[in-house]
Amino acid sequence: MHSRSPMLHAYWFAEHGLAGAYAPLAIEPGKLGPALRALHPLGFAGCNLTIPHKQEAMALVDEVDETARRIGAISCVVARPDGALFGTNNDCYGFIENLLEAEPRLAFDAGPVVVMGAGGGARAIVWALAQRGAREIRLVNRTLARAQALAADFGAPVRALDWADRAQALDGAALLVNTTSQGMVGMAPLDLSLARLPAHALVADIIYTPLETPLLRAARLRGLRTLNGLGMLLHQGRPAWKAWFGIEPKVTPELRARIEATL
Ligand SMILES: NC(=O)c1ccc[n+]([C@@H]2O[C@H](COP(=O)([O-])OP(=O)(O)OC[C@H]3O[C@@H](n4cnc5c(N)ncnc54)[C@H](OP(=O)(O)O)[C@@H]3O)[C@@H](O)[C@H]2O)c1
Repeated sequence: MHSRSPMLHAYWFAEHGLAGAYAPLAIEPGKLGPALRALHPLGFAGCNLTIPHKQEAMALVDEVDETARRIGAISCVVARPDGALFGTNNDCYGFIENLLEAEPRLAFDAGPVVVMGAGGGARAIVWALAQRGAREIRLVNRTLARAQALAADFGAPVRALDWADRAQALDGAALLVNTTSQGMVGMAPLDLSLARLPAHALVADIIYTPLETPLLRAARLRGLRTLNGLGMLLHQGRPAWKAWFGIEPKVTPELRARIEATL
């Protein structure tokens, strides 16, 4: 219910003159299969998936692309004209586009990257960072086994670290990314001291409600560069539109301002 996706897609429907709608649907765990199979008969072009459905959907669609297969999670489903369901993952695209929009010359191999969290979002981000050439990804999660499983799936350069060692994990890091839900509206802030993060580091949060999480605020007050998660949401919508409607919509300053005004 915090999602700004309905607003994002309504903007593009109006901009491109399509008579469509993007509806938030609360699907109970265990009912995803029948819900996905209903997309085509109900006339939907597809859907996006969010917590807690991204991983479960892997076994429910008819076809997944290489990106979703490697990540192990689906963020976007396309209902083909014959009713077959195709799954992909656009979170990694959105994350990288957001980073590069803010820092076009960002070198992903400039230094160690620390990723907090090992959930569905983290899987997409770790994969994207590795694809872009990150040489050392320190993965820190409250539940160590989950970080270890992700590291085992992706292999080098991912290394799982214990939650108790999270402050030290920031030593020498060039980029810190929060993918946990800590810091989101209604949740406690991420419990992480930034004292050991170098002054040149970039701190990114994939949360966008609020736009400035306590983590980003702490980083800004230390003089570090920060990046919120709104651009990730906006950019992941672009390949979804290409797949659903064959249209490539743009992320414009006006669109961003329209959504920021509601946050
Ligand atoms: N900007 C975007 O477009 C975008 C896209 C995707 C996700 N997101 C945001 O990213 C966040 C995570 O989404 P997700 O799909 O990855 O969720 P998820 O799969 O449920 O993973 C949640 C993560 O948060 C950690 N966590 C939860 N409570 C915690 C606590 N009290 N202390 C420390 N860690 C805790 C979990 O650790 P454990 O493994 O120990 O439970 C896990 O690593 C959400 O806020 C979501 O809205 C944003």
